[in-house]
Amino acid sequence: MKKVFIRTMGCQMNVYDSLRILDILNNLGYEETEAYEDSDLILVNTCHIREKASEKVFSELGRYSKLKEDKPDLIIVVTGCVVQAEGEDFLERAPFVDIALGPQNYHHLPEKLELIGRKLKKQVIEADFPVQTKFDFLPSPGSRTYSSYLAIQEGCDRFCSYCVVPYTRGAEYSRPAKDIIKEAEIMTTSGVKEITLLGQNVNAWHGIGTNGEPWRLEDLINRLADIPNLLRIRFITSYPSDMTSELLNCFTSQKKLMPYLHLPVQSGSDKILRAMNRRYTSSEYLDIIFKLRDLCPEIAISSDFIVGFPGEEDKDFEQTLDLVNKVDFASSFSFKYSPRPGTPGAAMKGQIPEEIKSSRLDVLQSLLQRQQERFNYNCIGKVLPVLLEHEGKKTGQLCGRSPYLQNVNLEADKKLLGEIIPVKITGANLNSLRGEQAI
Ligand code: SAH
Ligand code: SF4
Ligand code: F3S
Repeated sequence: MKKVFIRTMGCQMNVYDSLRILDILNNLGYEETEAYEDSDLILVNTCHIREKASEKVFSELGRYSKLKEDKPDLIIVVTGCVVQAEGEDFLERAPFVDIALGPQNYHHLPEKLELIGRKLKKQVIEADFPVQTKFDFLPSPGSRTYSSYLAIQEGCDRFCSYCVVPYTRGAEYSRPAKDIIKEAEIMTTSGVKEITLLGQNVNAWHGIGTNGEPWRLEDLINRLADIPNLLRIRFITSYPSDMTSELLNCFTSQKKLMPYLHLPVQSGSDKILRAMNRRYTSSEYLDIIFKLRDLCPEIAISSDFIVGFPGEEDKDFEQTLDLVNKVDFASSFSFKYSPRPGTPGAAMKGQIPEEIKSSRLDVLQSLLQRQQERFNYNCIGKVLPVLLEHEGKKTGQLCGRSPYLQNVNLEADKKLLGEIIPVKITGANLNSLRGEQAI
């Protein structure tokens, strides 16, 4: 077997894509290795969302290019959003890369490898948005862990003024329901118990259902829940304006849908939300949260925040803190605004100095961390159903996830991997819970 080393950066969609690429490579006789020095092929799946993410790609590639000096037959493949954003310039910046493929082109990897293997080409790049979707050409998914991602929607038409995703992933596209159901069934046959449905704007998913009727996300979730071995369903990432009441109701009516919602708000200031081209106000966001808490009081709410967007004054930032205090988040991701070339935000007046961004981020993150810690501490003494996913670092330790997506560590027999067992929570910190098997 030839060996492939895969390095994945960026979001869950890239994690999913990397596994689909591994499915392709498995069919070509490659097996995965954890050591890049031993590999015949290195695949770097890249992210362009913030400047730092993008820069990291080139510093990592530097390391792999050194290895190629000693191993001239080593093939270096780069996929993902940086390739899409840079286009032809990418190969000039990284002349040692053999194959560069955008996020909608990776199903063409076998034919590109053939070109490089037979030395018909020195370098190849493909970074466009083909009419036919890659999903029609991918092999069946191979084995997955007990919890797996499944892309149901890709691309975005929202054009938030800071964001590169509409340019790197293309227009919004919903996969057909029957293809999603088939993929979920294949996954569960190979042992998957939990599926997280993925999309850049996942709650905009729509399609024709198996009954011939138009379906929205809640219909798809309910249909997937009929798969007997599928025990848990999640979806990520949702856009606030697409949180319909039918979808909110699904959190009470569908027991397999986990009580966790990631709903990025970005800012608590209506002025900044408008400038970001987010199409909701802070009070509309709060309405969704309060409605959801009424329906499902235990729900864990998570979010994304950007501080230091152009024009953000102290009072705008205060409004973000205010919103955070009103919601009480169970977890979150927060970032300093990073101007991205080609997006409207980068050209806006009122760019915020780096020091102000940093100090606002510190204040916001310490508030959010206190909330997350409190959420975790409040679980102590409770018995939570935990899906045991893998062995821990310590011998005898297993790691799993609570319904609220918290990491839970406990001692248990590894025969229980893949099962959902009741766990009494005995301890908590910012990033995980400890517990013991409750019988
Ligand atoms: N589709 C999702 C998010 C995609 S990107 C949504 O609409 O919410 C993930 C997160 O990265 C975003 O929620 C945002 O908080 C952050 N992000 C995106 N572009 C950014 C930029 N230019 N600077 C800083 N953070 C950014
Ligand atoms: Fe980016 Fe906005 Fe689309 Fe999310 S909704 S992917 S933040 S443009
Ligand atoms: Fe990054 Fe592309 Fe995902 S820019 S966040 S890998 S969609």
